[in-house]
Amino acid sequence: MPRFVWLPILFVLIFWAGGITGAFAQAIDPHQLYEQRCGSCHTPHAGDFVHNSLVRFNARIFGRESRRELREFLASGHGKMTPDEIETMITHLTNILQSGGVFKNKCTVCHDRAVEFARRKLFIKNGELIGRYTNRNVEQFLSAHGRLETEEISKMVEVLTRQLIPPQKK
Ligand code: HEC
Ligand code: HEC
Repeated sequence: MPRFVWLPILFVLIFWAGGITGAFAQAIDPHQLYEQRCGSCHTPHAGDFVHNSLVRFNARIFGRESRRELREFLASGHGKMTPDEIETMITHLTNILQSGGVFKNKCTVCHDRAVEFARRKLFIKNGELIGRYTNRNVEQFLSAHGRLETEEISKMVEVLTRQLIPPQKK
């Protein structure tokens, strides 16, 4: 094939790759967001912050000390976040609050924080959570590991899976 034929193909490839990285760049990683934008003044990890400083009341989240509603507080400029970032942050903190600290209570004796553990050891294959080096199906494995109640297992798989996926923009 003459060389000039490759040139347009190359351009198409570059644009295509640029489009893909652009799409990834839009997804905000909530862990990083907390660590970079809140962790310098508050506890370094979101899990501890939720545990120490937030409470839920009537399906909304409030500061434990200030009694200020989280969404309003952030919207008023605390933390200097964009509206998108505020949504991401509220979803993230709500998820942590709802997962009820089961991982913290039952797993961190032996494992890292959920996010570190999941990102180092686990991955998603065909929609299933799998051990990266063991090829284990995590849901099956947890029926005999970690002393979870049966109804806690799928919830735990959900919590661990969430650590691997930054939420996509709608
Ligand atoms: C520059 C430092 C600073 C940054 C950055 C910061 N905060 Fe704060 N935050 C404070 C201080 C100081 C207080 C306590 C005084 C007050 O209520 O204004 C506070 C209070 C809060 C409260 C109320 C806590 C309670 O017990 O009532 C919440 C909720 C909160 N911050 C969330 C966040 C979130 C989420 C972020 C990241 C987007 C963030 N903050 C970023 C300094 C900061
Ligand atoms: C008493 C210590 C201990 C506790 C508590 C514990 N684990 Fe583990 N876990 C281990 C050890 C050690 C391994 C690795 C050994 C192995 O592969 O069998 C492991 C492996 C795993 C794996 C498989 C990782 C892979 O690469 O295949 C998952 C998933 C897991 N643990 C999740 C949990 C969860 C979730 C909890 C809490 C409900 C928990 N563990 C509680 C010690 C513990």
